[in-house]
Amino acid sequence: MQDSCYKLGQFNDRQGVIVEIGSWKGKSTVALALGAAQIHSEKIYAIDPHRIMPEDGYWEDTEKEFLDNIQQAGVSAQVVPMVMTSAAAAQNWHQPIRLLWIDGDHRYEPTKLDFSLWEPHRVEGGILAMHDTIRKNGPKRVLWEQVFRSDRFQEIAIVDNITAMRKVSHASTGAKLRKNFSLAARALYIAARKSRVPNAKQTGRRLLEKLTRQPWLILLLAIFSASIAR
Ligand SMILES: C[S@@+](CC[C@H](N)C(=O)[O-])C[C@H]1O[C@@H](n2cnc3c(N)ncnc32)[C@H](O)[C@@H]1O
Repeated sequence: MQDSCYKLGQFNDRQGVIVEIGSWKGKSTVALALGAAQIHSEKIYAIDPHRIMPEDGYWEDTEKEFLDNIQQAGVSAQVVPMVMTSAAAAQNWHQPIRLLWIDGDHRYEPTKLDFSLWEPHRVEGGILAMHDTIRKNGPKRVLWEQVFRSDRFQEIAIVDNITAMRKVSHASTGAKLRKNFSLAARALYIAARKSRVPNAKQTGRRLLEKLTRQPWLILLLAIFSASIAR
């Protein structure tokens, strides 16, 4: 996942900041910040209450560990910690968002709330990426209801349990065909994961990544390779 977040952080096609919903101890925050630092100087807004919420399945206060980890990684200056829920952070939010990374509470209602509060701030051409979109029912259902059925998203890429897509005003016919192809590949992968065929899960995962990899992701990989070769 960190590799994918690193590449997502590099996405610099549009203006705007990066918003992360659900930072926990900072693994994805650090990866996003390191990736973004290669390309632009926009901040990463890292939203997480870091609170103990047993009723929601969170048993630790992770604020100190989060702050220590981003400091150790040398990315504190790029990251704006927002120690609050995504709903609280969305109040009075006015900045355009180039990358919205949703990895907070994975239950259906909270994921839907995250999407509806933050998605309108994402710029045209910006990227939405969500974690746990293969395994967890909440993000899966939100994706189907809000994204897959809509004509406003294209270039769906599925890597490492992350689904990423670009926002457009209206997807072209070609883009819609590619989207349906990606969705068919995704359905096959989910079926393969449940099957008892040896290696179906690993092979399906690799195939899905290759099949859904779109030009923008190839561009990211090229930038990534160039930056580590320097
Ligand atoms: C799966 S973890 C995030 C993992 C993190 N992205 C990483 O790479 O390690 C989910 C996080 O979402 C946070 N969370 C739960 N409800 C939230 C809400 N309403 N708004 C923002 N974050 C929330 C939890 O505190 C938890 O730290």
